[in-house]
Amino acid sequence: MKLPQAQVAVLQTADADEPRRIDEVADEADLKPEAATRAAFELEADGLVAVTEATLEHYELTAEGRQYVYESLPEQDLYEAAVDAGADEGAVSMGQVIGASGLDGPAVDIALANYNRKGYGAIDSGEITADPDADAGGDSEMFALEAVADGRVEDADDDAISQLERRGLLAVSEETVRSVQLTDDGVTALMGGVETAETVDRLTPELLTSGEWEDVEFTEYNVAADAEDVPHGKEHILRQTANRVKDTLVGMGFQEMEGPHVDAQFWINDCLFMPQDHPARTHWDQFALSAPDEIDDLPEDLVERVRSAHLEGVGPDGEGYHSPWAEDVARGLDLRGHTTSLSMRYLSGHEIGELEPPERFFSVEKVYRNDTLDPTHLLEFFQIEGWVMAEDLSVRDLMGTFTEFYEQFGITDLEFKPHYNPYTEPSFELFGTHPETGEVVEVGNSGIFREEVLSPLGVDCDVMAWGLSLERLLMLMYGFEDIRDVHGTLCDLDLLRTTEVLH
Ligand code: PHE
Repeated sequence: MKLPQAQVAVLQTADADEPRRIDEVADEADLKPEAATRAAFELEADGLVAVTEATLEHYELTAEGRQYVYESLPEQDLYEAAVDAGADEGAVSMGQVIGASGLDGPAVDIALANYNRKGYGAIDSGEITADPDADAGGDSEMFALEAVADGRVEDADDDAISQLERRGLLAVSEETVRSVQLTDDGVTALMGGVETAETVDRLTPELLTSGEWEDVEFTEYNVAADAEDVPHGKEHILRQTANRVKDTLVGMGFQEMEGPHVDAQFWINDCLFMPQDHPARTHWDQFALSAPDEIDDLPEDLVERVRSAHLEGVGPDGEGYHSPWAEDVARGLDLRGHTTSLSMRYLSGHEIGELEPPERFFSVEKVYRNDTLDPTHLLEFFQIEGWVMAEDLSVRDLMGTFTEFYEQFGITDLEFKPHYNPYTEPSFELFGTHPETGEVVEVGNSGIFREEVLSPLGVDCDVMAWGLSLERLLMLMYGFEDIRDVHGTLCDLDLLRTTEVLH
């Protein structure tokens, strides 16, 4: 039988009686480990060897762990000092015991927490007792530390090992080890004699010009063989999805809006007919800037029309809020709590001039809210803002647009619920079902802008609009349950590395 050189070497080095580690085989056969692994998989595909995989755990003490092996655990020191002070017969002052133990700095907290956990005694209002029956000298975690230091981890108790890992005294790492063993067919092949086939692993200009390529034998590629996993930088799934959202909306005929993250309350709230004493306008909801705290270039005519809408309403039967409206409040600068501020800038003509229906605009941008951090809320998130300006729009148009949009991300179970916004009438919220938990999750808010918003802006046809959460869309697409898995320092690197782009 003729085989490529690396396969012959692996076949001759492998054993029929027991599996041998591929790295050892490679060493002995004078092959690179990758070449030996590849050859082993090729031989396996031909049934000549069996490849097995095992996970080895390596245990190593951290610097703190090593220190305790040489000395003792802080809780052991505390126990000893407590017993010396007579705490096994009655409560004694904790300050005195700690002083005598020689513990200081963070070691004191470590000692107290573990003393308590291990039941060495009780700590209560500045006093400490020691359980006379506790065996601090025979501490199982100390025993495990010593076992690891001596390379006898198998002697240690599993619970003690996990405690040490939790305490940061021990680092456990995993290694995947592959081994090969000859199969019966492999033995038969060897007995029948194997020779090295001269194979060529790449096509060169020389092979082509000499015409030799017609006669040589090419190395076969095993595209199914396991390759080394090389972690590399990749686009964050949030960014990938933001880009997909943009492509999708452009495909639906929308143009992109741009604008400031820090904006005048005028654009963020006042244009949206949000009364100046609305609770959502306070620091409970929005982040205000201390410097600069105001801008002075608001369009005067528009300010006047917005003021009048707030005070007197719009049209002959209009009703305003009858509450105070001050221009300096409108000029105050905030981090935008929604990107509807951009919609106001564009709809007013302030950004790219007057617009004629039909028009469609969107943005996928960050917004900032003073929310309480939890699995579904962050202080900042991405909002998918959008609006359509046209004659005679209805809620049906809005629902149809969402159905079409979300379908492209595989979400077909949207639900709608009537809602209230000061700036839209009618309004509704959108919900989707979380693929893992089955929970119904709010994904967005929408509506048709009311006259009090459109009339001051100078728009005299209908405008339907929305703000959707990009992160919630991601949750429905990828099934993760905590928004902090994809944002910030607690993010789940494995999820970010391995999530495949869904199309
Ligand atoms: N601004 C709303 C929000 O942040 C979304 C929205 C935009 C609703 C436009 C209606 C119209 O929740």
